[in-house]
Amino acid sequence: MNDKQLVALHAAAQVEDAMLVGLGTGSTANYFIDELARRQRDEGLNVTTVASSTVSSIRAHQLGLPQVSMEHVSRIDLYVDGADEVTPDLSLLKGRGSDLVREKLLARACDRFLVLVDHSKLVARIGEKYAIPIEVMPFAWQLTKHRLEAIGGRGNLRAIAGTDGLAVTSHGSLVLDMVFDTGLDTRTLDAALNATPGVVEHGIFCGLASVLLIAIDGKVEVRQASNGKT
Ligand code: 5RP
Repeated sequence: MNDKQLVALHAAAQVEDAMLVGLGTGSTANYFIDELARRQRDEGLNVTTVASSTVSSIRAHQLGLPQVSMEHVSRIDLYVDGADEVTPDLSLLKGRGSDLVREKLLARACDRFLVLVDHSKLVARIGEKYAIPIEVMPFAWQLTKHRLEAIGGRGNLRAIAGTDGLAVTSHGSLVLDMVFDTGLDTRTLDAALNATPGVVEHGIFCGLASVLLIAIDGKVEVRQASNGKT
C-alpha cells in the first residue's frame, strides 16, 4: 500500500452512517472515494456524497456512491481532500486540479475538513514549491494579472500540457499560476487575493483544515489544527 492510500484508508474509517461527505479531487482523494465505495459495498455504509469536481463526481458515480449536487447543499458533515503544500499552522495550497471554487466552498461548508498528505507536501511557507493557482474571470484576466503584478506576483495563464489550449475550470474561469517572492506572509497574501477584483478564487486555504493526516514511513501521523474547525 502506498502513502496516499494509507492516509485515505485512515480517513475513510472515520466516516459514519448517514453522513454527507465532500469528495476531494486528485490521486489521494481518489483512494478515499474508492475506499468509501468499498465500505458501502462490503460493510453496508450508508452515506451521501457531494463532489468537488467533475472528475470526482464521475468516479463516485461509476463506483455507485449516492451523490447530491452542490446547489442542494447548505452544509456538510465531512470534507476529505489532498493538498499540494501544507505549512505548520495547517495553511494549505491547493488547486492543481483547477476546481478551486467548489473545493473552497466544501472546505468552508463542512463541520470537519480532513486533509490527506504524504510528508513531501510539508513546507515552511505557502508557495515554496508551487505557484499559487488563481482562478480569474476570462474577460478580466489582463486587468487582474496587472493588479497581482503590482503586489509582487509574476506568472501567466495556465496552459493545458501538450496542447496550445488554456486550462478552463468546469465553470469557465481561466487560471493564473503566480509566484510571489515578496516576503508577504500567507494570511496577508490570502487577504490581498481575496480583495483583488476579477479573482474568482485562489489556492490558499487559511484556517479551514481541521485535521491533517500525514503518511510518514508507513504510519499515519495526526495533527489537529489550532485555528481551524475542530
Ligand atoms: C486538486 C488539489 C489536490 O488535492 C492536490 O493537487 C493534491 O493532489 P494529489 O492527491 O494528487 O497529490 O488540490 O485541486
